[in-house]
Amino acid sequence: MSKIPPIKLSPQEAPVISLDGVSLNLTSGAGEVNILRDINLQVPRGQSIGLVGPSGAGKTSLMMIVAGLERASAGEVVIGGFSYQDRSEDDLAKFRRGNVGVVFQDFHLIGTMTALENVALPLEFAGRPDAFERAEAALDAVGLGARIVHYPGQLSGGEQQRVALARAFVGNPALLLADEPTGNLDQETGDRVIELMFTLAKTNSTTMVLITHDPAIAERCDRIIRIVNGRIVDENATDGRRTDPDSISRQERAGDC
Ligand SMILES: Nc1ncnc2c1ncn2[C@@H]1O[C@H](COP(=O)(O)OP(=O)(O)O)[C@@H](O)[C@H]1O
Ligand SMILES: [Mg+2]
Repeated sequence: MSKIPPIKLSPQEAPVISLDGVSLNLTSGAGEVNILRDINLQVPRGQSIGLVGPSGAGKTSLMMIVAGLERASAGEVVIGGFSYQDRSEDDLAKFRRGNVGVVFQDFHLIGTMTALENVALPLEFAGRPDAFERAEAALDAVGLGARIVHYPGQLSGGEQQRVALARAFVGNPALLLADEPTGNLDQETGDRVIELMFTLAKTNSTTMVLITHDPAIAERCDRIIRIVNGRIVDENATDGRRTDPDSISRQERAGDC
């Protein structure tokens, strides 16, 4: 079995994300659909990307490809110097465990496990003997130290999303991918989750891809990438602080992720 290197031990300063001519074609009832077309993207270590675009543009599909949860139909996906080409599902899962944290819009927590068990799970899979200690510390870091034995059903939406964040960060991933992490939260709770994400990312020098619909959140990222109809149509650097909604198109504000 091939050896899976963690990005943080990678000797070369390769970009954390390198996509070269990536496309995704899926076959549906109506025939073949081109979901992503010729995506080229290089993301250096520590950079945060706001990934925006209208509903159905391909944002989630792109995130799934970068996570190794979906295979590109063509092109090259290299994450932290590790090529996804011809890797088994097992190798991709192992690579993800050591290097990539994923936050899904609808949390994806396991309902029959406590918050602590949910967060410890990826570390247990990775055979870490300190899984529970680290999980407890991660829950503490997201302000849920007092909720560790609660089940997801006993937690609010914001608390569940914070558990999901703790789970994504617990392995100290070099890359964090988040798909509309505040999409199901009220404004105030969402703001708190985003604040926490940027703080954790900064503390851990995490490269971050944040799919969002909120112009203010996108503007907090170092760079905004816009996808329309499966293609990158626009990208620009931000100063990471602006909250000027005019820099995001009207279509974007009116759209629905
Ligand atoms: N498994 C699938 N089979 C066929 N089409 C799909 C599949 N998953 C997503 N799509 C289509 O791919 C396009 C992009 O979807 P998605 O990546 O979820 O967009 P976004 O996250 O930007 O809203 C949409 O048109 C969607 O209907
Ligand atoms: Mg989506």
